[in-house]
Amino acid sequence: MSATRWAAVDEFLLDHLVPEASEMEGVLQANADADLPEIDVSAAQGKYLQLLVRISGAERVLEIGTLGGYSTIWMARGLPSEGRLLTLELEPAHAEVAGRNLIRAGVADKVDILVGPAVDHLRSLIDNGAEPFGFVFVDADKPAYPEYFELVMQLTRPGSVVVFDNVVREGEVCDPDSADERVQGVRELFRLLKASRRITMTAQQTVGVKGHDGIAIGVVTAD
Ligand code: SAH
Ligand code: DHB
Ligand code: MG
Repeated sequence: MSATRWAAVDEFLLDHLVPEASEMEGVLQANADADLPEIDVSAAQGKYLQLLVRISGAERVLEIGTLGGYSTIWMARGLPSEGRLLTLELEPAHAEVAGRNLIRAGVADKVDILVGPAVDHLRSLIDNGAEPFGFVFVDADKPAYPEYFELVMQLTRPGSVVVFDNVVREGEVCDPDSADERVQGVRELFRLLKASRRITMTAQQTVGVKGHDGIAIGVVTAD
């Protein structure tokens, strides 16, 4: 099946199941106007993340990698009324665009953006004894996925849901000789997951407007 067909199916699914996708177009336009890369999750995936947040019942959500806040807004809209989302972004310019998008989407009061290297913020959250997050979405620099995994495990509790984006990358994940450091980062993450007795995970390949990729999902099982 061709990439055109995958995109057509995404459109069909959105038309029937995700009418709210069209109001999210303004966010993508604001990102494009600010020259942000088009590496947001798709609308179907955004809605999927929102439903996962709702199903998990998480009151505290952590996102690593904000970009323009597209995935952030989808997830924030899945929070309960008192719920909060913390999102981490390296680039001040991305965080600025995201901040404006969050205001326009009416979710700014539920979301905090921290700017700078995510690892630094995660370490200080751990050092300051932050309350565990019930849902975590990891979507920043792929070479650091192994490090994010180790840190996220210190910021969650049994029952917390953990999701990693972009774990298949056109199938390159199963190539041990890949020269792409992003692929190698994901491969090292999978080695850690295989060895971990504290989380149980699966991953699904996805096709659609964003090509062939995949999302890993799991639940923390033990402290
Ligand atoms: N979650 C977003 C897309 C994120 S793209 C969405 O689906 O809408 C990845 C983002 O991670 C980029 O904005 C990039 O600047 C950011 N990033 C890269 N390295 C980072 C780091 N070390 N710490 C925090 N954010 C980082
Ligand atoms: C890239 C990053 C992403 O988070 C994504 O969804 C797609 C591509 C990238 O770095 O190429
Ligand atoms: Mg991604």
